[in-house]
Amino acid sequence: MHRVSLDKALTGSVIARTVYSHDGVLLLSEGMRLTEEHKRKLSHNGVSDLFIEQPEYTGLTVSDIVRQEVLTDVKAQVKDIMAMPSLKAGIDAKRVADLIELLLDDILTSGEILSHLNGLRSIDENTYTFSHSVNVAVYAMVTGIGMDMKREALKELGTGAIMHDVGKMMVDGNILQKPGGLTQLEFEEVKKHTIFGYELLQKIEGMGNAAAQIALSHHERMDGSGYPRGMSGIEIPLASRIVAVADVYDALTSDRVYRVKEDTHKVLDYIANQAGSHFDRMTAEAFVRQIAHYPVGTAVVLLSGSKGLVSRQNRNLPHRPCVRVVIDADGVMLKRHQELDLSQADGNRIAAIWDI
Ligand SMILES: [Fe+2]
Repeated sequence: MHRVSLDKALTGSVIARTVYSHDGVLLLSEGMRLTEEHKRKLSHNGVSDLFIEQPEYTGLTVSDIVRQEVLTDVKAQVKDIMAMPSLKAGIDAKRVADLIELLLDDILTSGEILSHLNGLRSIDENTYTFSHSVNVAVYAMVTGIGMDMKREALKELGTGAIMHDVGKMMVDGNILQKPGGLTQLEFEEVKKHTIFGYELLQKIEGMGNAAAQIALSHHERMDGSGYPRGMSGIEIPLASRIVAVADVYDALTSDRVYRVKEDTHKVLDYIANQAGSHFDRMTAEAFVRQIAHYPVGTAVVLLSGSKGLVSRQNRNLPHRPCVRVVIDADGVMLKRHQELDLSQADGNRIAAIWDI
């Protein structure tokens, strides 16, 4: 199978993975052939890319760290929990804990290396927040696992991560939805989501203080340039330092109302470069180790000049996966594809993304 952007997907292509909407509604089933009508429907529902079958990609399987139906279900439930009527009634801490258990069980049993979770373009900022919250919880818990955190600590981290932006529900929607830059005054309003979230979560019975602390301090930076309090270094709780990395990673790899997404490997480079100033060094290193830099199915150009598709991940070297070479260095299309393990190939590595 192969991941393509919706605008590049040809009609008649066979769908390799079932596509769901933000709300968990089935949009298109695996095995169906793509029509113009389907493309309109997918676009309307914010689907920006999908998996299709193609001969070069036969045998490539994309395994999820969290099953797609679980992720979709949790996102729909978070939307329900964070919607204004239920927020006013108070958050059911037990329900949130159950969602974290669901995600954590999948993560711990899959044994997969994490590939990025986004397939949906957010239609508006609220939809983005629900989906983003769940992605951040997964990224944060996977990072925590890479830092040898125990199950109880992972659950606390996941709970804070999934609720980290709940305060945004109390910020003026017109400011959050505004495309383009914010005025200083508007930015001051957005910043308040940290305090609103803290105040809300602190009052919820059974939520735990750690979650409230994460909501409060996930925008703090190691060098003290963050908000709301300008904390620095280890003054910032470890769980908040982890959520800070997960938050920025998901934001930059998602399409937003005002910006298109960046490539996974570019964002990982950015995170590595910001280690020590914006991000906690150990956390940034753990994150970069735990995530696939080039997800399976990514088309790449190698330093040697040959071209191919990422076919498998190497757990300890996520930037050096296995590549199925389909065009050799002389530009000749190979009749028999060659599997190349970049962890074993001295001097050869991925040079660029191949725009096919
Ligand atoms: Fe935030």
